[in-house]
Amino acid sequence: MTGKQVAAEAAAALVEDGMRLGLGTGTTVDHLLVALAVRRLDISGVPTSEQTAARCRELGIALLDPNDVERLDLTIDGADELTPGLVLTKGGGGALVREKVVAAMSDRVVIIATPDKVVERLGVTFPLPIEVVPFGVGYVARRLEHEHGLEVEVRRRNGTEARTDNGNALLDCRAPAGIEDPAALDASVARMPGVVDTGLFVDLADLAILGSSDGSTRTIERARD
Ligand code: 5RP
Repeated sequence: MTGKQVAAEAAAALVEDGMRLGLGTGTTVDHLLVALAVRRLDISGVPTSEQTAARCRELGIALLDPNDVERLDLTIDGADELTPGLVLTKGGGGALVREKVVAAMSDRVVIIATPDKVVERLGVTFPLPIEVVPFGVGYVARRLEHEHGLEVEVRRRNGTEARTDNGNALLDCRAPAGIEDPAALDASVARMPGVVDTGLFVDLADLAILGSSDGSTRTIERARD
């Protein structure tokens, strides 16, 4: 088994009959969906992307509309990078906005990843994605460069500007010296006109399960004030 599979299987074991889930996006989550389907539990979930929704339909996992649900019991999702304090960057798969909504609706958020994704400072090895309405791409990109010293690249797919499931553009932002204060950056960028949200997840994850290919797992729990 790969580390991603090991983490996904461990998270699947946390799921109980009757739970309403938030279902993340990505290759690690794909292993989770398979593990849940194998367990044949009576569960339902809000998918965070069209990709996850399609996979749930294939695997027979019941889907929920987020607008019909007040709270979710548990969200399980991947991450691109995470710190030992459990601040994350997400959105490598472009689903950051729906992922953040679903995480905020959840009583508990569990992140599944591999140990190599743990970093002291976010944004150096993996760029931070920021979702922006297409009209504001140039304006927001310039402000991110000038005010925050970020190296900004507009995400492209098959030769054209990529679009999220929400019809928006993505700016992939590298921080050469790392993001010093993720909460401050998140708050500042989220206030810029045209920004839908950032891929910074601060105070949203409760637990990370890090899986290794030798079958072992390590966990990081968020410290509560
Ligand atoms: C998608 C995400 C994913 O959780 C993140 O990119 C990790 O993906 P993977 O499990 O494929 O490594 O945030 O928007």
